[in-house]
Amino acid sequence: MSSKIRVLSDDTINKIAAGEVIENPSSVVKELTENSIDAGATEITIEIREGGRQLIRISDNGCGMNGDDALLCLERHATSKLKAVDDIEALVTMGFRGEAMPSIASISKFTLLTRLSETAIEDQPGTMVIVDGGKIVKCCPVECSKGTTIEVKSIFFNVPVRRKFQKSPSYDAAEICRIVTLLALANPEIKFQLISNQETIISAPAFPKDSFQEALNERVQQILGNDFSRGLCPLTGMTGEYTLQGFLGLPASTKHNRTGQYLFINRRAVSSPLVSYAIREGYGTMLSTGRHPIYVLHLTMPGNLLDVNVHPQKREVRLRQEHVLKDLIIRSVSDSLQRGGAKAPMTISKSMEFNSERAE
Ligand SMILES: Nc1ncnc2c1ncn2[C@@H]1O[C@H](COP(=O)(O)OP(=O)(O)OP(=O)(O)O)[C@@H](O)[C@H]1O
Ligand SMILES: [Mg+2]
Repeated sequence: MSSKIRVLSDDTINKIAAGEVIENPSSVVKELTENSIDAGATEITIEIREGGRQLIRISDNGCGMNGDDALLCLERHATSKLKAVDDIEALVTMGFRGEAMPSIASISKFTLLTRLSETAIEDQPGTMVIVDGGKIVKCCPVECSKGTTIEVKSIFFNVPVRRKFQKSPSYDAAEICRIVTLLALANPEIKFQLISNQETIISAPAFPKDSFQEALNERVQQILGNDFSRGLCPLTGMTGEYTLQGFLGLPASTKHNRTGQYLFINRRAVSSPLVSYAIREGYGTMLSTGRHPIYVLHLTMPGNLLDVNVHPQKREVRLRQEHVLKDLIIRSVSDSLQRGGAKAPMTISKSMEFNSERAE
């Protein structure tokens, strides 16, 4: 009797992995933009058509790749960011698995254009790799600008089941806008542009600033607008190897939902019940029930006290030394509110509540 067990082909394995990493067009934008950030880009342009179904094009001025790497990056578990499992502990990059590029290339019509940016290799041409549903159909030298441009067309064209479960193009465009907003708030030193159906949706130039806090201040105004920024006060805090930086809403600027909460741990947008709870604690009686504070907070901490390898899209993290972190947050929030002259919500006039509600 012939055996029933088979080792899956690389193509099938890639499509299965893509199912975990790439849920919809916004996951493609997230993965490719994170790669541009990891490549040291200072300018990233994201263009989409039809919510990314027709086209996603991400261009960066990062380090670029040579011809060998342009092919290698499409292999599963091929990464320049991790050598051994222990490196995850000291991770300074967004990526580490070597999964995103082969996953995306296996479920789309994919073109990679890349050229090294190092000046010493000025004369080397770039490389173009064309992949169709995971199969490399062309790889050749080309004239192109330094950095990397990736075009993803016809996403899920060969995964009909996934295609059926996709939402509308306008939903996907909104989701992409949300992802780019997060990436832009996470990296205020990088210039971001998002163009949807040839219309500029996000334009966030990089302001050269001396401090991260100043750059973040500019970015919050650019991206979240003046109404949002007006109700904020600065927050900074430090203990041991933990640093907190960012902006926190005064009690008069609360919302009835959590849409104004932006938390970044080591530049990664994450949700953490522990942090949300500690922030609420810091407000004490200044928050009325049913109201949620707004904030843009960056927590920087040693990689070995944080586990990002929990969720396929890295949205969740596990934190160690929870009590140290909780104490830092509660104290910093309370200090920052005091310095910002916060008053308890009873002092908020009815008209202010009404206006902030209407702005949501
Ligand atoms: N825009 C880019 N510029 C330069 N190099 C890139 C770019 N995008 C990808 N690469 C190279 O391709 C490799 C593979 O990318 P891929 O996203 O698949 O994996 P990763 O970023 O290492 O890990 P993860 O799967 O967690 O994202 C990267 O490690 C990097 O060396
Ligand atoms: Mg990556």
